[in-house]
Amino acid sequence: MAMQDDLIGRAANRAEIIARAQAQMAEMGIDRAFIDRLVETFYGRIQAHPRLGPVFDTRLSGRWPEHLAKMKAFWTSIAFKNGAYGGKPVQAHHGLAGITEGLFVEWLALFSETLDDMKASEEARRWFMATADRIARSLVTALFCNPALENPTRRV
Ligand code: HEM
Repeated sequence: MAMQDDLIGRAANRAEIIARAQAQMAEMGIDRAFIDRLVETFYGRIQAHPRLGPVFDTRLSGRWPEHLAKMKAFWTSIAFKNGAYGGKPVQAHHGLAGITEGLFVEWLALFSETLDDMKASEEARRWFMATADRIARSLVTALFCNPALENPTRRV
């Protein structure tokens, strides 16, 4: 009985966390439809970008619909804490031909521009940018600041 209570308690807690996240996002004007539109608009612009486009396309040629679905799940799971995404972002960016730290700066600028053009609320813009900036920093650190990656024979 105690175990069942515990399971019920945990499920209720999980439901509460999800409901709270949804309410917080709704206050900022962020819902699933907005995330879908943001992902579609942003990656449309990525594809058209003279420097970002080719780096993405080398890896994603023929697989763009899959990538968009994954990115929608990624943002949805961060926004609504619902576990919709379970991938490995760092691994996905390893070995991408032509990727540089400077491209991450361009990625963030394009993301910011897209949010402005979509008339996201100020709070939504700030939330998306803070989140993207944090993840971009951790990707840059993982990709460019790991001595073991720069020199595979060196063990840390
Ligand atoms: C210059 C910057 C970036 C480039 C060139 C880039 C490129 C890519 C490419 C080509 C993939 C597909 C990998 C594959 O399926 O084989 C990918 C996946 C992904 N990217 Fe990026 N990306 C960049 C920045 C970012 C940033 C800033 C974020 C987060 C805010 C991000 C989040 C993701 C995620 C979540 C995936 C899916 C990983 C998975 O397979 O689970 N990327 N990226």
